[in-house]
Amino acid sequence: MNDVEETLALFKINQDQLQLVKGRMRERLEEGLKSKSTSTIKMLPSFVYLTPDGTERGKYLALDLGGTNFRAMLVRFKKQRYRLYHKIYTIPLEFMQGTGEELFDHLAQCICDFLDYMGLKKARLPAGFTFSFPCEQAAIDTGTLVTWTKGFKATDCEGHDVVNMLQEAIKRRNEFDLDIVALINDAVGTMMSCAYEDPQCEIGMIAGTGTNLCYMEELKNIEKIDQRNVPTKRDEETHEAEEDKQNAGANKKKTEVNSVVSKMCINTEWGGLGDDGCLDDIITSFDVEVDKNSINQGKQRFEKLTSGMYLGEIVRRVLLDLTRRGLLFKGHVTETLKTPGIFETKYLSQIESDRLALLQVRSILQQLGLLSTCHDSIIVKAVCGAVSRRAAQLCGAGLAAVVDKIRENRKLDHLSITVGIDGALYKLHPRFSQVLKETVRDLAPQCDVTFLPSEEGSGKGAALIAAVARRKQEM
Ligand code: BGC
Repeated sequence: MNDVEETLALFKINQDQLQLVKGRMRERLEEGLKSKSTSTIKMLPSFVYLTPDGTERGKYLALDLGGTNFRAMLVRFKKQRYRLYHKIYTIPLEFMQGTGEELFDHLAQCICDFLDYMGLKKARLPAGFTFSFPCEQAAIDTGTLVTWTKGFKATDCEGHDVVNMLQEAIKRRNEFDLDIVALINDAVGTMMSCAYEDPQCEIGMIAGTGTNLCYMEELKNIEKIDQRNVPTKRDEETHEAEEDKQNAGANKKKTEVNSVVSKMCINTEWGGLGDDGCLDDIITSFDVEVDKNSINQGKQRFEKLTSGMYLGEIVRRVLLDLTRRGLLFKGHVTETLKTPGIFETKYLSQIESDRLALLQVRSILQQLGLLSTCHDSIIVKAVCGAVSRRAAQLCGAGLAAVVDKIRENRKLDHLSITVGIDGALYKLHPRFSQVLKETVRDLAPQCDVTFLPSEEGSGKGAALIAAVARRKQEM
């Protein structure tokens, strides 16, 4: 094995190791459901009990904060169809990392602009707020931020109710009113938007800037929630009886509702796997450096091995090391190569594309100020491949743990289930999805998993949850 191959071998995970990762994920998923759990996987109750049934109607506002952008959307449901209007606003770094008040004032300003643009400032629409960070919820319409992830660190937000913070900012502005009826994680929104198309969809997964997964868990297994506050079957049946009167073809719904009240969607926050050191055997020195230089050192270790915010940076650190050892770029360590964050994950997707000739790989590297030979390009491509393959395999191992858990929950020999999925890594990377699917197939052979890329997960999903939540409020 030559020196480059030795470095690449650090990123290889064999079947036995993947089985171990699956097992560790499973243990922490179970642990996280217990009351007073100290699991690194938070298993946050979402208070979403129902998947959509196609009866959703009306106009909703959906707000989405999760990455460098904030999106404001208007979603209208009509006869099993929906229309969505939106506007995207960038969140400048000074707001992401300034004070909470500044951040939420900025969001209120964006919402105000959107309502102006849509001519809806006086409408007081029900709104779903997709907030893609871990929130401890006690109800569908409140949530305390547990910790920031993905480069956000606005002060005075952790430990505070983010719905309240947004409402306060709207009040300070005093120009419009909003009725925030649901706070939603993006994984949950993704699951809901896909469940609208496919009733077998009971898992939502994000493979993008960050990573996460949610799924429908049996209520009886969620020890940490007070089962007395859970809607009873009778509540649901009363509501259903009312709907039956209006809706002739409601038979299908009866089965759905009966099965649905026994479950709640759990936002796993699986990105925290490894925060207790359980992934240390697969973590390389490059990952350790990425973690050390992040703003949340020691946290989200699984996320740092698997998601878009970090993969490019892992690659850059490997390239830097190979160059320092004279194995790449003729040993020229440029300023570019030394600059953190310069190698964005989108370059991995481009470089690994089969359609791209080596010459084009060289031209991408050149744009980054890296002068490469043909041989260098081959090495860079191999490094990208090793890092992204490991990411997809790890996500596959995690997902295998979840589908097997659901299968065992239901005491089935064989489970057929759909995963609603979103995120640039899944949607744009040329190989991630394939490796993810292969890994799940190998590690959970008794499960037949279909992947459904979500369409407008955070918009349509949030609006659907708002619709379902409002339906409950009105009961
Ligand atoms: C957050 C999750 C989110 C995921 C994907 C993670 O960093 O903790 O709440 O779902 O990113 O956006």
